[in-house]
Amino acid sequence: MTQTTDPKTSDELAARAADSGAGATANFRQSGKTGSAQVDPERVALLAGSLIKAANDLVREHGVSYDEYNALKSWLISVGEDGEWPLFLDVWLEHSVEEVNTSHRKGSKGTIEGPYYVPGAPEQDSPATIPMREDEPGTPLVFAGQVRDVDGTPLSNAVVDLWHADANGFYSQFAPGLDQWNLRVRVRTDADGRYEINTVQPAPYQIPTDGACGKLIAAAGWHAWRPAHLHVKVEAPDHETLTAQLYFPGDAHNDDDIASAVKPELLLDVAESEGKNSTEYDFVLDPVR
Ligand code: DHB
Ligand code: FE
Repeated sequence: MTQTTDPKTSDELAARAADSGAGATANFRQSGKTGSAQVDPERVALLAGSLIKAANDLVREHGVSYDEYNALKSWLISVGEDGEWPLFLDVWLEHSVEEVNTSHRKGSKGTIEGPYYVPGAPEQDSPATIPMREDEPGTPLVFAGQVRDVDGTPLSNAVVDLWHADANGFYSQFAPGLDQWNLRVRVRTDADGRYEINTVQPAPYQIPTDGACGKLIAAAGWHAWRPAHLHVKVEAPDHETLTAQLYFPGDAHNDDDIASAVKPELLLDVAESEGKNSTEYDFVLDPVR
């Protein structure tokens, strides 16, 4: 809980970043989501056709040269070789997919899941302490609140599945040297639907700069930052699972997140006292339709 872990050198940090893209591909393959990809042939024709048409329109509109076409071909090949398709899609496309698929909801706003969720984190009752190293760096953070139905009923049998980067911006299972479940936990709400989780403040996160996505960012003169965030999935029987991220006030990248995943409703209110931060955030779940 104290800040005794040595700050990492930039070389060490860069070496660890290189693993996360390929790790995200392996994670997706294991997720079971690939097997659900039975898309109706009519939808395949519609969606693939629209995508191809949009790309052809873009070529004509901008007069794409053969050098640019070959740069694209070469870059697309490297996205696959670097295992960065999950990163690419979750940064530049998932926010629209999330928007389209949750627009019916009356409860809490959600946002993208991103590439680093792993199901099956250790379960704890509330109040809980997330698995962390003895000398886990970062400011201690108490993250607490209540889970309710849209009609206001507290949900006592809900689970808040929390995962986040450490104070160096790294996720366990996607960077070497971290225990499997470091900064990942599933916490059951109490009789009043409340949860309380002791953790540490995550750092802003830079998407890996050494793979294909990083090369695109550098070539376009963009930045690679996401603001610091907590990831959550909030589940309760007979309710739609809410996938969200929560952000910290004052973060320089809340206004220009590379993944376009920040919404005003997802900003935390953080109180600081004696070197410890605390925040309250309530989740409102929609019943299943
Ligand atoms: C990516 C990483 C994240 O931590 C996240 O929340 C969303 C996207 C990414 O690198 O693609
Ligand atoms: Fe993240």
